[in-house]
Amino acid sequence: MEASSCLRYQVCGFGLSWIWLCLLLLHLLQNCSLVLSDSPYLVGMGSYDITGPAADVNMMGYANAEQVTSGIHFRLKSRAFIVAEPDDGKRAVFVNLDACMASQLVNIKVLDRLKARYGDLYNENNVAISGIHTHAGPGGYLQYVVYIITSLGFVRQSFDVIVDGIEQSIVEAHNNLRPGKIYVNKGDLLDAGVNRSPSGYLNNPAEERSKYRYNVDKEMTLVKFVDDEFGPVGSFNWFATHGTSMSRTNSLISGDNKGAAARFMEDWAEQNGLPKHTAHANSNDFGSLHLPRRVSTIIPEPDEITDDLMQLASSYKASGGRILASSNITRRIRNTQENSAKFVSAFCQSNCGDVSPNVLGAFCIDTNLPCDFNHSTCNGKNELCYGRGILMNSKVPA
Ligand SMILES: *[C@@H]1O[C@H](CO)[C@@H](O)[C@H](O)[C@H]1NC(C)=O
Ligand SMILES: *[C@@H]1O[C@H](CO)[C@@H](O)[C@H](O)[C@H]1NC(C)=O
Repeated sequence: MEASSCLRYQVCGFGLSWIWLCLLLLHLLQNCSLVLSDSPYLVGMGSYDITGPAADVNMMGYANAEQVTSGIHFRLKSRAFIVAEPDDGKRAVFVNLDACMASQLVNIKVLDRLKARYGDLYNENNVAISGIHTHAGPGGYLQYVVYIITSLGFVRQSFDVIVDGIEQSIVEAHNNLRPGKIYVNKGDLLDAGVNRSPSGYLNNPAEERSKYRYNVDKEMTLVKFVDDEFGPVGSFNWFATHGTSMSRTNSLISGDNKGAAARFMEDWAEQNGLPKHTAHANSNDFGSLHLPRRVSTIIPEPDEITDDLMQLASSYKASGGRILASSNITRRIRNTQENSAKFVSAFCQSNCGDVSPNVLGAFCIDTNLPCDFNHSTCNGKNELCYGRGILMNSKVPA
Protein backbone atom coordinates (compact mmCIF):
# COMPACT_ATOMS: atom_id res chain seq x y z
CA MET A 1 0.00 0.00 0.00
CA GLU A 2 2.67 2.40 1.03
CA ALA A 3 4.84 1.41 -1.84
CA SER A 4 2.11 1.93 -4.37
CA SER A 5 1.19 5.41 -3.10
CA CYS A 6 4.83 6.31 -3.16
CA LEU A 7 5.04 5.09 -6.70
CA ARG A 8 1.93 7.03 -7.59
CA TYR A 9 3.45 10.15 -6.09
CA GLN A 10 6.58 9.66 -8.10
CA VAL A 11 4.63 9.11 -11.26
CA CYS A 12 2.64 12.25 -10.57
CA GLY A 13 5.76 14.26 -9.91
CA PHE A 14 7.31 12.92 -13.06
CA GLY A 15 4.07 13.59 -14.92
CA LEU A 16 3.91 17.18 -13.75
CA SER A 17 7.39 18.00 -14.86
CA TRP A 18 6.58 16.31 -18.14
CA ILE A 19 3.53 18.47 -18.58
CA TRP A 20 5.60 21.57 -17.96
CA LEU A 21 8.20 20.40 -20.38
CA CYS A 22 5.55 19.64 -22.98
CA LEU A 23 3.92 23.02 -22.51
CA LEU A 24 7.27 24.68 -22.86
CA LEU A 25 8.01 22.69 -26.00
CA LEU A 26 4.59 23.43 -27.42
CA HIS A 27 5.12 27.09 -26.75
CA LEU A 28 8.50 26.99 -28.43
CA LEU A 29 7.13 25.02 -31.36
CA GLN A 30 4.29 27.45 -31.87
CA ASN A 31 6.58 30.40 -31.82
CA CYS A 32 9.19 28.70 -33.90
CA SER A 33 6.91 27.00 -36.39
CA LEU A 34 7.84 29.54 -39.02
CA VAL A 35 11.49 28.95 -38.37
CA LEU A 36 11.14 25.16 -38.17
CA SER A 37 9.24 24.90 -41.44
CA ASP A 38 11.62 27.33 -43.01
CA SER A 39 11.59 25.77 -46.44
CA PRO A 40 12.61 28.36 -48.97
CA TYR A 41 9.79 27.34 -51.32
CA LEU A 42 6.10 26.72 -51.51
CA VAL A 43 5.22 23.67 -53.57
CA GLY A 44 1.83 22.57 -54.86
CA MET A 45 0.68 19.63 -56.97
CA GLY A 46 -2.49 19.12 -59.00
CA SER A 47 -3.96 16.78 -61.58
CA TYR A 48 -7.08 16.67 -63.71
CA ASP A 49 -8.67 14.43 -66.32
CA ILE A 50 -8.07 15.20 -70.02
CA THR A 51 -9.26 11.93 -71.57
CA GLY A 52 -11.35 13.52 -74.32
CA PRO A 53 -13.64 12.02 -76.98
CA ALA A 54 -13.41 8.23 -76.75
CA ALA A 55 -15.21 7.46 -80.01
CA ASP A 56 -14.74 8.30 -83.67
CA VAL A 57 -11.92 10.81 -83.33
CA ASN A 58 -8.63 10.29 -85.11
CA MET A 59 -5.69 9.67 -82.82
CA MET A 60 -2.65 11.94 -82.59
CA GLY A 61 0.77 10.52 -83.32
CA TYR A 62 0.96 7.91 -86.05
CA ALA A 63 -0.88 10.09 -88.62
CA ASN A 64 -2.91 7.00 -89.48
CA ALA A 65 -6.32 8.12 -90.80
CA GLU A 66 -7.80 4.73 -89.99
CA GLN A 67 -6.81 4.87 -86.33
CA VAL A 68 -9.86 6.36 -84.59
CA THR A 69 -10.79 6.15 -80.92
CA SER A 70 -13.18 3.38 -79.88
CA GLY A 71 -12.82 3.18 -76.12
CA ILE A 72 -10.45 3.77 -73.25
CA HIS A 73 -7.42 1.75 -72.17
CA PHE A 74 -6.89 4.13 -69.26
CA ARG A 75 -7.74 7.76 -68.68
CA LEU A 76 -5.44 10.65 -69.53
CA LYS A 77 -4.41 13.35 -67.10
CA SER A 78 -2.89 16.76 -66.91
CA ARG A 79 -0.45 16.92 -63.99
CA ALA A 80 0.95 20.19 -62.70
CA PHE A 81 3.39 21.40 -60.13
CA ILE A 82 4.00 24.93 -58.95
CA VAL A 83 7.12 26.08 -57.14
CA ALA A 84 6.88 29.54 -55.61
CA GLU A 85 8.97 31.74 -53.44
CA PRO A 86 6.90 32.91 -50.47
CA ASP A 87 5.78 36.53 -50.21
CA ASP A 88 4.56 36.82 -53.80
CA GLY A 89 8.03 36.18 -55.10
CA LYS A 90 8.97 34.31 -58.22
CA ARG A 91 7.07 31.21 -59.23
CA ALA A 92 7.04 28.61 -61.97
CA VAL A 93 4.42 26.19 -63.27
CA PHE A 94 5.20 22.97 -65.11
CA VAL A 95 2.41 20.93 -66.66
CA ASN A 96 2.81 17.43 -68.04
CA LEU A 97 0.08 16.23 -70.38
CA ASP A 98 -0.86 12.67 -71.21
CA ALA A 99 -1.06 13.90 -74.79
CA CYS A 100 1.21 13.74 -77.81
CA MET A 101 2.33 17.31 -77.27
CA ALA A 102 1.11 20.71 -76.17
CA SER A 103 0.35 23.34 -78.79
CA GLN A 104 0.61 27.05 -79.18
CA LEU A 105 -3.15 27.40 -79.33
CA VAL A 106 -3.55 25.39 -76.12
CA ASN A 107 -0.92 27.59 -74.44
CA ILE A 108 -2.61 30.80 -75.52
CA LYS A 109 -6.00 29.64 -74.26
CA VAL A 110 -4.62 28.36 -70.94
CA LEU A 111 -2.76 31.63 -70.34
CA ASP A 112 -5.98 33.54 -71.07
CA ARG A 113 -7.81 31.51 -68.45
CA LEU A 114 -5.03 31.96 -65.88
CA LYS A 115 -4.98 35.69 -66.50
CA ALA A 116 -8.71 35.88 -65.85
CA ARG A 117 -8.24 34.03 -62.56
CA TYR A 118 -4.95 35.30 -61.21
CA GLY A 119 -4.02 38.45 -63.11
CA ASP A 120 -0.35 38.45 -64.02
CA LEU A 121 0.69 35.80 -61.51
CA TYR A 122 0.97 33.14 -64.21
CA ASN A 123 2.04 34.18 -67.68
CA GLU A 124 4.04 33.14 -70.75
CA ASN A 125 7.29 33.57 -68.80
CA ASN A 126 6.58 31.11 -66.00
CA VAL A 127 4.18 28.49 -67.38
CA ALA A 128 5.58 25.52 -69.30
CA ILE A 129 3.32 22.88 -70.84
CA SER A 130 4.76 19.62 -72.10
CA GLY A 131 3.32 16.41 -73.58
CA ILE A 132 4.44 12.81 -73.06
CA HIS A 133 4.28 11.97 -76.78
CA THR A 134 1.69 9.23 -76.42
CA HIS A 135 0.44 8.15 -79.85
CA ALA A 136 -2.82 6.94 -78.36
CA GLY A 137 -4.72 10.11 -77.48
CA PRO A 138 -7.47 11.92 -79.43
CA GLY A 139 -6.10 14.31 -82.04
CA GLY A 140 -7.32 17.46 -83.73
CA TYR A 141 -6.37 19.92 -80.98
CA LEU A 142 -3.41 21.53 -82.74
CA GLN A 143 -3.90 24.50 -85.00
CA TYR A 144 -1.31 23.61 -87.63
CA VAL A 145 -2.67 22.08 -90.83
CA VAL A 146 -0.11 19.30 -91.02
CA TYR A 147 -1.23 17.93 -87.64
CA ILE A 148 -4.94 17.97 -88.42
CA ILE A 149 -4.93 16.39 -91.86
CA THR A 150 -5.65 12.87 -90.63
CA SER A 151 -8.26 14.12 -88.15
CA LEU A 152 -9.94 15.94 -91.07
CA GLY A 153 -9.70 19.25 -89.27
CA PHE A 154 -9.83 20.79 -85.84
CA VAL A 155 -11.67 18.81 -83.13
CA ARG A 156 -13.16 21.17 -80.61
CA GLN A 157 -13.90 18.45 -78.04
CA SER A 158 -10.27 17.33 -77.99
CA PHE A 159 -9.09 20.90 -77.58
CA ASP A 160 -11.55 21.95 -74.85
CA VAL A 161 -10.91 18.99 -72.59
CA ILE A 162 -7.15 19.58 -72.69
CA VAL A 163 -7.46 23.31 -71.97
CA ASP A 164 -9.99 22.73 -69.17
CA GLY A 165 -7.85 19.97 -67.64
CA ILE A 166 -4.66 22.02 -67.68
CA GLU A 167 -6.46 24.96 -66.10
CA GLN A 168 -7.99 22.79 -63.37
CA SER A 169 -4.71 21.03 -62.60
CA ILE A 170 -2.97 24.39 -62.20
CA VAL A 171 -5.81 25.72 -60.02
CA GLU A 172 -5.48 22.65 -57.82
CA ALA A 173 -1.70 23.02 -57.59
CA HIS A 174 -2.16 26.71 -56.76
CA ASN A 175 -4.63 25.89 -53.97
CA ASN A 176 -2.26 23.24 -52.62
CA LEU A 177 0.78 25.52 -52.31
CA ARG A 178 2.45 24.81 -48.98
CA PRO A 179 5.99 25.01 -47.59
CA GLY A 180 8.06 22.13 -48.86
CA LYS A 181 11.38 20.96 -50.14
CA ILE A 182 12.52 19.91 -53.59
CA TYR A 183 15.02 17.14 -54.20
CA VAL A 184 16.69 16.29 -57.50
CA ASN A 185 18.31 13.02 -58.45
CA LYS A 186 19.69 11.46 -61.61
CA GLY A 187 20.48 7.93 -62.65
CA ASP A 188 20.78 5.66 -65.67
CA LEU A 189 17.68 3.68 -66.53
CA LEU A 190 18.73 0.76 -68.69
CA ASP A 191 16.45 -1.59 -70.66
CA ALA A 192 13.72 1.04 -71.06
CA GLY A 193 14.70 2.43 -74.46
CA VAL A 194 16.80 1.48 -77.46
CA ASN A 195 18.09 3.36 -80.45
CA ARG A 196 15.50 3.09 -83.17
CA SER A 197 18.10 3.13 -85.89
CA PRO A 198 21.23 1.45 -84.51
CA SER A 199 22.61 1.11 -88.05
CA GLY A 200 22.10 4.83 -88.62
CA TYR A 201 23.89 5.61 -85.36
CA LEU A 202 26.91 3.67 -86.59
CA ASN A 203 27.30 6.25 -89.35
CA ASN A 204 28.49 8.73 -86.72
CA PRO A 205 32.30 9.04 -86.64
CA ALA A 206 33.89 6.49 -84.28
CA GLU A 207 35.58 9.33 -82.45
CA GLU A 208 32.26 10.91 -81.57
CA ARG A 209 30.66 7.61 -80.63
CA SER A 210 33.53 6.88 -78.25
CA LYS A 211 32.42 9.82 -76.12
CA TYR A 212 29.23 8.03 -75.09
CA ARG A 213 28.67 4.81 -73.25
CA TYR A 214 25.31 4.04 -74.93
CA ASN A 215 23.85 4.83 -78.33
CA VAL A 216 20.94 6.71 -76.70
CA ASP A 217 20.56 8.90 -73.62
CA LYS A 218 19.75 6.59 -70.68
CA GLU A 219 19.65 9.22 -67.97
CA MET A 220 16.50 9.84 -65.94
CA THR A 221 16.19 13.03 -63.90
CA LEU A 222 13.70 13.03 -61.06
CA VAL A 223 12.41 15.89 -58.97
CA LYS A 224 10.71 14.98 -55.72
CA PHE A 225 8.46 17.30 -53.75
CA VAL A 226 8.26 16.89 -49.99
CA ASP A 227 5.70 18.84 -48.01
CA ASP A 228 7.08 20.01 -44.65
CA GLU A 229 4.14 18.45 -42.85
CA PHE A 230 2.70 15.71 -45.06
CA GLY A 231 5.90 14.23 -46.46
CA PRO A 232 6.27 13.30 -50.14
CA VAL A 233 3.45 14.80 -52.23
CA GLY A 234 4.71 14.16 -55.74
CA SER A 235 7.48 13.53 -58.19
CA PHE A 236 8.12 14.52 -61.80
CA ASN A 237 10.77 12.82 -63.87
CA TRP A 238 12.17 13.22 -67.35
CA PHE A 239 13.35 10.30 -69.44
CA ALA A 240 13.77 9.91 -73.18
CA THR A 241 11.66 7.24 -74.85
CA HIS A 242 8.91 7.30 -77.45
CA GLY A 243 5.30 6.87 -76.33
CA THR A 244 4.77 4.14 -78.86
CA SER A 245 4.34 0.96 -76.86
CA MET A 246 0.75 1.02 -78.12
CA SER A 247 0.77 0.14 -81.81
CA ARG A 248 -0.52 2.13 -84.77
CA THR A 249 -3.59 -0.10 -84.98
CA ASN A 250 -4.61 0.47 -81.34
CA SER A 251 -7.90 2.34 -80.99
CA LEU A 252 -8.14 2.67 -77.21
CA ILE A 253 -7.23 5.98 -75.59
CA SER A 254 -4.06 5.42 -73.56
CA GLY A 255 -1.24 7.32 -71.90
CA ASP A 256 1.09 4.62 -73.28
CA ASN A 257 4.24 3.73 -71.33
CA LYS A 258 4.70 7.04 -69.51
CA GLY A 259 1.01 7.47 -68.67
CA ALA A 260 0.95 3.91 -67.31
CA ALA A 261 4.13 4.48 -65.29
CA ALA A 262 2.54 7.58 -63.74
CA ARG A 263 -0.56 5.60 -62.84
CA PHE A 264 1.48 2.77 -61.32
CA MET A 265 3.48 5.21 -59.24
CA GLU A 266 0.43 7.14 -58.04
CA ASP A 267 -1.29 3.87 -57.13
CA TRP A 268 1.85 2.79 -55.29
CA ALA A 269 1.90 6.08 -53.35
CA GLU A 270 -1.75 5.69 -52.42
CA GLN A 271 -1.19 2.14 -51.23
CA ASN A 272 1.71 3.36 -49.12
CA GLY A 273 -0.29 6.16 -47.54
CA LEU A 274 1.32 9.11 -49.33
CA PRO A 275 0.88 11.98 -48.76
CA LYS A 276 0.55 11.20 -45.08
CA HIS A 277 -2.70 13.01 -44.36
CA THR A 278 -4.60 11.69 -47.40
CA ALA A 279 -4.06 8.23 -46.03
CA HIS A 280 -6.19 9.49 -43.22
CA ALA A 281 -8.82 11.22 -45.29
CA ASN A 282 -9.10 8.44 -47.86
CA SER A 283 -9.16 5.60 -45.41
CA ASN A 284 -12.65 4.78 -46.72
CA ASP A 285 -13.89 5.17 -43.21
CA PHE A 286 -17.34 6.26 -44.27
CA GLY A 287 -18.65 5.09 -40.95
CA SER A 288 -17.15 8.14 -39.31
CA LEU A 289 -19.69 10.91 -39.05
CA HIS A 290 -17.19 13.69 -39.55
CA LEU A 291 -17.78 15.34 -42.91
CA PRO A 292 -15.15 17.68 -44.29
CA ARG A 293 -16.43 21.22 -44.47
CA ARG A 294 -16.45 22.25 -48.08
CA VAL A 295 -14.91 25.64 -48.48
CA SER A 296 -15.21 27.68 -51.61
CA THR A 297 -11.93 28.67 -53.17
CA ILE A 298 -13.38 31.90 -54.51
CA ILE A 299 -11.98 33.62 -51.44
CA PRO A 300 -8.35 32.61 -51.75
CA GLU A 301 -6.96 33.34 -48.32
CA PRO A 302 -9.48 33.18 -45.51
CA ASP A 303 -8.77 35.77 -42.89
CA GLU A 304 -10.48 36.00 -39.54
CA ILE A 305 -13.61 37.67 -40.88
CA THR A 306 -14.23 35.20 -43.68
CA ASP A 307 -13.42 32.36 -41.33
CA ASP A 308 -16.08 33.64 -38.92
CA LEU A 309 -18.50 33.96 -41.81
CA MET A 310 -17.81 30.42 -42.91
CA GLN A 311 -18.28 29.13 -39.38
CA LEU A 312 -21.60 30.96 -39.24
CA ALA A 313 -22.71 29.73 -42.66
CA SER A 314 -21.85 26.13 -41.89
CA SER A 315 -23.76 26.27 -38.61
CA TYR A 316 -27.12 26.62 -40.43
CA LYS A 317 -28.99 23.38 -40.81
CA ALA A 318 -30.71 22.46 -44.06
CA SER A 319 -34.35 23.57 -44.02
CA GLY A 320 -35.93 20.76 -45.99
CA GLY A 321 -35.37 17.31 -47.38
CA ARG A 322 -34.74 14.25 -45.31
CA ILE A 323 -31.61 12.90 -43.73
CA LEU A 324 -30.44 9.71 -45.41
CA ALA A 325 -29.22 8.10 -42.23
CA SER A 326 -28.54 4.70 -43.73
CA SER A 327 -26.96 5.91 -46.93
CA ASN A 328 -23.31 6.56 -47.20
CA ILE A 329 -23.40 7.62 -50.86
CA THR A 330 -23.56 11.30 -50.04
CA ARG A 331 -20.65 10.87 -47.67
CA ARG A 332 -18.64 9.20 -50.35
CA ILE A 333 -19.38 11.90 -52.90
CA ARG A 334 -18.34 14.55 -50.45
CA ASN A 335 -15.30 12.59 -49.56
CA THR A 336 -14.09 12.52 -53.16
CA GLN A 337 -14.81 16.20 -53.53
CA GLU A 338 -12.69 17.08 -50.57
CA ASN A 339 -9.75 19.10 -51.74
CA SER A 340 -7.19 16.98 -49.98
CA ALA A 341 -3.75 16.68 -51.42
CA LYS A 342 -3.04 13.57 -53.44
CA PHE A 343 0.28 12.23 -54.63
CA VAL A 344 0.96 13.42 -58.17
CA SER A 345 3.53 11.55 -60.21
CA ALA A 346 4.38 12.57 -63.75
CA PHE A 347 6.64 10.82 -66.23
CA CYS A 348 7.60 13.62 -68.57
CA GLN A 349 9.10 13.45 -72.02
CA SER A 350 12.61 14.49 -72.92
CA ASN A 351 14.94 14.07 -75.92
CA CYS A 352 13.15 11.01 -77.30
CA GLY A 353 13.81 11.61 -80.99
CA ASP A 354 15.92 8.51 -81.63
CA VAL A 355 14.69 6.37 -78.71
CA SER A 356 12.20 3.53 -79.12
CA PRO A 357 10.51 1.66 -76.26
CA ASN A 358 10.66 -1.51 -78.35
CA VAL A 359 13.59 -2.87 -76.41
CA LEU A 360 13.44 -6.37 -77.91
CA GLY A 361 14.32 -5.12 -81.39
CA ALA A 362 12.62 -5.19 -84.80
CA PHE A 363 11.18 -8.42 -86.22
CA CYS A 364 9.44 -9.57 -89.38
CA ILE A 365 5.88 -10.47 -88.50
CA ASP A 366 5.77 -13.25 -91.11
CA THR A 367 8.96 -15.10 -90.24
CA ASN A 368 9.60 -13.91 -86.64
CA LEU A 369 13.21 -13.27 -87.68
CA PRO A 370 15.02 -9.97 -87.03
CA CYS A 371 14.54 -7.42 -89.81
CA ASP A 372 17.47 -6.54 -92.07
CA PHE A 373 19.79 -4.54 -89.80
CA ASN A 374 20.79 -1.84 -92.26
CA HIS A 375 17.43 -1.31 -93.96
CA SER A 376 14.76 -2.41 -91.43
CA THR A 377 13.18 -4.55 -94.11
CA CYS A 378 11.86 -8.10 -94.51
CA ASN A 379 12.69 -9.56 -97.87
CA GLY A 380 13.34 -6.08 -99.16
CA LYS A 381 10.00 -4.63 -97.93
CA ASN A 382 9.49 -2.54 -94.80
CA GLU A 383 5.75 -3.21 -94.30
CA LEU A 384 6.32 -6.40 -92.33
CA CYS A 385 9.03 -5.09 -89.98
CA TYR A 386 7.72 -4.19 -86.50
CA GLY A 387 9.44 -3.25 -83.25
CA ARG A 388 8.75 -5.31 -80.14
CA GLY A 389 8.79 -4.26 -76.52
CA ILE A 390 6.74 -4.71 -73.38
CA LEU A 391 3.17 -5.84 -73.95
CA MET A 392 1.29 -2.72 -72.86
CA ASN A 393 -2.12 -4.18 -73.63
CA SER A 394 -1.66 -6.94 -71.08
CA LYS A 395 -1.07 -4.46 -68.28
CA VAL A 396 -4.24 -2.46 -68.29
CA PRO A 397 -4.27 -0.20 -65.24
CA ALA A 398 -8.04 0.40 -65.84
C1 LIG B 1 -21.76 1.79 -47.05
O1 LIG B 1 -21.16 1.38 -48.25
C2 LIG B 1 -20.53 0.12 -48.19
C3 LIG B 1 -19.82 -0.12 -49.51
O2 LIG B 1 -20.67 0.05 -50.60
C4 LIG B 1 -21.54 -0.94 -47.84
O3 LIG B 1 -20.92 -2.22 -47.77
C5 LIG B 1 -22.18 -0.60 -46.51
O4 LIG B 1 -23.19 -1.54 -46.21
C6 LIG B 1 -22.76 0.81 -46.54
N1 LIG B 1 -23.21 1.19 -45.20
C7 LIG B 1 -24.39 1.69 -44.97
C8 LIG B 1 -24.63 2.08 -43.57
O5 LIG B 1 -25.21 1.87 -45.85
C1 LIG C 1 25.44 -2.70 -92.67
O1 LIG C 1 26.12 -1.72 -93.45
C2 LIG C 1 27.47 -1.55 -93.11
C3 LIG C 1 28.02 -0.39 -93.89
O2 LIG C 1 27.58 -0.40 -95.23
C4 LIG C 1 28.21 -2.85 -93.39
O3 LIG C 1 29.57 -2.73 -93.07
C5 LIG C 1 27.59 -3.97 -92.56
O4 LIG C 1 28.19 -5.20 -92.86
C6 LIG C 1 26.09 -4.04 -92.78
N1 LIG C 1 25.55 -4.96 -91.80
C7 LIG C 1 24.66 -5.93 -92.09
C8 LIG C 1 24.24 -6.83 -90.98
O5 LIG C 1 24.24 -6.09 -93.24
